[in-house]
Amino acid sequence: MKFTVAIDGPAAAGKGTIARALAAQFGFGHLDTGLLYRATARRVMEGEEALSAALALQSADLRRDDLRSAEVGQVASRVAAMPKVRTALLDFQKNFARRDGGAVLDGRDIGTVICPDAEVKLFVTATDGVRAARRHAELSRKDAALTVAEVLADLRARDRRDAGRDTAPMSASAEALLLDTSELTIDEAIEMAGAAVIAKLPI
Ligand code: DC
Repeated sequence: MKFTVAIDGPAAAGKGTIARALAAQFGFGHLDTGLLYRATARRVMEGEEALSAALALQSADLRRDDLRSAEVGQVASRVAAMPKVRTALLDFQKNFARRDGGAVLDGRDIGTVICPDAEVKLFVTATDGVRAARRHAELSRKDAALTVAEVLADLRARDRRDAGRDTAPMSASAEALLLDTSELTIDEAIEMAGAAVIAKLPI
């Protein structure tokens, strides 16, 4: 069975948590497409040219444990604005989306560019303050000096760049279900997303 769930939205809105939960619930494969840009960025930070870095990605690159930092996120957002990098990563994402057994992809352009025909499209949002608090809770485990204000500024800068670029900017597909997680518990958000999937499953 081919069945694609496309999840887009700004940083730290809950896309990853929802995507992982849906993949587990329905037995679908999950691809965090942000990791492709983060892993490319990591190679660029080591001196590699951006297109070569994207073309050279191996699965080991996606498992590096330093990909989640704010610094890598900022470079990823810059690298992701380069059309040649996005083109280089296109086929891998499209092939993953049509794998047998179903797929959940989360990112910024999944419902609009990578999988315009996805069976389910979600656009996950939350207020800036809620997103900053959530990301701060995650990152401050490794960096105790980090402030919520710094995280907020970082998220806003990245969102502005991701939504403002010319190629595949972050935007909600017209068919996407908007899911604002600001006032929802994780379980409530997962339940609403799961209901959207169940409504579209064959039989
Ligand atoms: O989801 P994330 O924060 O790990 O993504 C890191 C950066 O990668 C994000 O700032 C924008 C870029 N990105 C993108 O342009 N398109 C995607 N489908 C996923 C991520």
